[in-house]
Amino acid sequence: MRVGILTGGGDCPGLNAVIRGAVRKGVKAHGHEFVGFRDGWRGPLENDTMPLGVDEVRRILPRGGTILGSSRTNPFAVEGGVDRIKENLESNGCDALIAIGGEDTLGVATKLADVGVNVVGVPKTIDNDLSGTDFTFGFDTAVNIVMEAVDRLHTTAESHHRVIIVEVMGRHAGWIALHSGLAAGANIILIPERPFDIEKVCAQVESRFATSYSPIIVVAEGAIPKEGTMELVSGEVDAFGHVRLGGIADRLAKEIEGRTGKEARAVVLGHIQRGGSPTAFDRWLATRFGLHAIQAVTDGDFGIMVALNRTEIIRVPLSEGTKELKVVRPDLYDEVEVLFG
Ligand code: F6P
Repeated sequence: MRVGILTGGGDCPGLNAVIRGAVRKGVKAHGHEFVGFRDGWRGPLENDTMPLGVDEVRRILPRGGTILGSSRTNPFAVEGGVDRIKENLESNGCDALIAIGGEDTLGVATKLADVGVNVVGVPKTIDNDLSGTDFTFGFDTAVNIVMEAVDRLHTTAESHHRVIIVEVMGRHAGWIALHSGLAAGANIILIPERPFDIEKVCAQVESRFATSYSPIIVVAEGAIPKEGTMELVSGEVDAFGHVRLGGIADRLAKEIEGRTGKEARAVVLGHIQRGGSPTAFDRWLATRFGLHAIQAVTDGDFGIMVALNRTEIIRVPLSEGTKELKVVRPDLYDEVEVLFG
């Protein structure tokens, strides 16, 4: 068989491990050939390809990013986009396509599967907010990066008797904030699923100072105040209509400083969370996803996505991964809230 592979959406550590796992097993165990499509759906849309074989996947396991490149191209927003993708898959002799991506990339894959494209999905996002899988790869790396940053921020916050507000990724789901904040002993964690009460946050800040410690707040970029009084978004949107976020930490710093009189600084970790080498867990998960994805292709089992269920890799319908966002359950947040302040 000849199999196309693409990586779409925000990059994330572990993408190369998936590609490597799929290609090495595909060539060695099944005699498949591969073609790499560059920059997500832009590749098959514009017929932009690159060679992809065992040589190309050597030494990429520890590398962050994706050797195939990525973009947020939405072929359904392009006139004739779907037909162009079908034609280009055919002209490259592709019998199947492995699409590695998050909500948007897999959403496109689901629709393409419905119109007869032989596609297998691999769930990816540092946000860990895809349903159908217990974890996505990239998440563990992001959490570890944030944890290390917060560990460092504790000492500088204490030296200067400051509040430090650390903004992390997560537009709709607070998984990164919750896991990293818990792991690094943040004093307050704010997530999109639980609109915050600014007065309560300030009281927790004061109580922390009262015990001679400096508070660290970990806030997800999509967190919102209860009252809805703080203007938080720029209004810009991407090709999938998502609002570009950013700025909540800055807003909070000003608000907290104004209300408590304590010096407050914002640290936005941004794309640092997506960069660099994947953790062992993410390499393990991503490699297994790659191995299972190529097995599904070989079995002719299309319109599915590979997923982690406890410790097993299973196959679920592609639509399963994108039908709803997996957000933080209220009881999980309640469980850690007792540590705040
Ligand atoms: O979906 C992954 C993600 O990193 C989100 O956490 C974040 O909101 C978004 O991508 C940022 O997108 P971009 O890289 O396009 O700024």
